[in-house]
Amino acid sequence: MNTVLVGAQWGDEGKGKVIDFLTEEADVVVRFQGGSNAGHTVVVGDRKYVLHLVPSGVLHEGKHCVIGNGVVMDPFDLMKELEQVESWGFALKGRFHISERAQMVMQWHRALDRAEEAARPEGEKIGTTGRGIGPAYAAKVGRYGMRVGDILKSDFLDLVRKNVKEANRKLKALGALELDPEEMVRLYTPMVAALMPYVTDTIQFLHEKLESKAGILFEGAQATMLDIDFGTYPFVTSSNPTAGGACTGSGISPRSIDRVVGVIKLYTTRVGEGPFPTELNDADGETLRTRGGEFGATTGRPRRCGWFDAVVGRYAQRVNGVDYWAMTKLDVLDTFPVVKICTGYRRADGFVYTTFPADLDALAACTPIYEEMPGWMTETSHITDYAELPENAKKYINRILELIGGKLGVLSVGPARETTLRIGI
Ligand code: GDP
Ligand code: IMO
Ligand code: MG
Repeated sequence: MNTVLVGAQWGDEGKGKVIDFLTEEADVVVRFQGGSNAGHTVVVGDRKYVLHLVPSGVLHEGKHCVIGNGVVMDPFDLMKELEQVESWGFALKGRFHISERAQMVMQWHRALDRAEEAARPEGEKIGTTGRGIGPAYAAKVGRYGMRVGDILKSDFLDLVRKNVKEANRKLKALGALELDPEEMVRLYTPMVAALMPYVTDTIQFLHEKLESKAGILFEGAQATMLDIDFGTYPFVTSSNPTAGGACTGSGISPRSIDRVVGVIKLYTTRVGEGPFPTELNDADGETLRTRGGEFGATTGRPRRCGWFDAVVGRYAQRVNGVDYWAMTKLDVLDTFPVVKICTGYRRADGFVYTTFPADLDALAACTPIYEEMPGWMTETSHITDYAELPENAKKYINRILELIGGKLGVLSVGPARETTLRIGI
């Protein structure tokens, strides 16, 4: 069984936790896009692990972990994370692989990310994670990026020099500090030996695994509404976190994908700038943030919080072809006497959008339409069997499923591994 897992909203839906859960039945876990802008949390016992580049399946001994060609990988972030994973007691030897086609995020991409963000006027800032993601993907599409395989070439350090000089022109124009090419050469020289053991033809590796009927799990980072094509452009990331990205970011055909799992939080959060129709700037929003521990796993920024948005859910179901939902954070809603679901956006002239509009100005002029349902006012985090859920919680979940389509596969009622209910998957 080959499964693609994607985020349905604006990220931080609990993908790391669900990947960890589904890794039990997989042999290989593959990251196919994004980079260290991701922060995926897995809680095991009283330990909390946060992963940025390394697939969240790494906490299961013996499972192969792959960084696919669609990823932008910062070698310094990666090395730090690999050391951390080993210090946690998980051996990596022979089971961690990086595509030679993956792009590298270099120091100048990070510098450019910060400088470009600083140069954007208020209202146009994206609120990026500062991890160099946009400039690294710009370099890839502009055909001047550096690939992991470049470290194997004899002129790798000349390539570093050339790229620093090019980046300096842009940094200067942005009024930012320029980088010293020779210092960059000194910085990147040790990377060649450090990365070498992991560089793999991952396309060959994955196809051999497919042929031997191994199960592959594709771990999406970010989410549908942050997708460069389908999200709230330009307030998005620079990759395709949607299901199609799993194929282009790994070299696997769509015909090899058996199912798509969408991870969706039972309310909504967003970190960074950009439209968020159901955002709450009141006591309810504060309750969601506090109860849900809604602070960024990568940057520590407080996440914006709001009610569940079924327009987003339906859109994500269609764009990704979600078969099964992994619904998360039900427990966070336990204390609300009333819960709300957004079913459409009403324009001033009365027109109602029931699918997500491309025009952000039109969206900004809309007000969300809500359906209200009674809450359950009962703690759910100890529940291990779906049948034991309070009736009102079941009604809330079923109404959402009716609005967004797809089936319920997994329900999560707490951060820990064991607070995960397998339903129909
Ligand atoms: P990801 O980026 O999609 O992997 O999600 P993050 O790890 O950034 O954020 C999800 C946060 O919610 C993490 O702190 C998880 O430990 C936590 N979490 C996941 N599922 C649940 C749940 O069902 N209930 C609660 N209370 N917390 C959860
Ligand atoms: P996971 O995988 C939430 C957001 C940033 C910013 C925008 C662009 O943990 O769900 P970037 O640094 O990618 O150029 O920033 O995207 N963003 C995320 N928000 N979760 C993430 O990852 C995110 N990765 C990027 O906050 O608004
Ligand atoms: Mg996250």
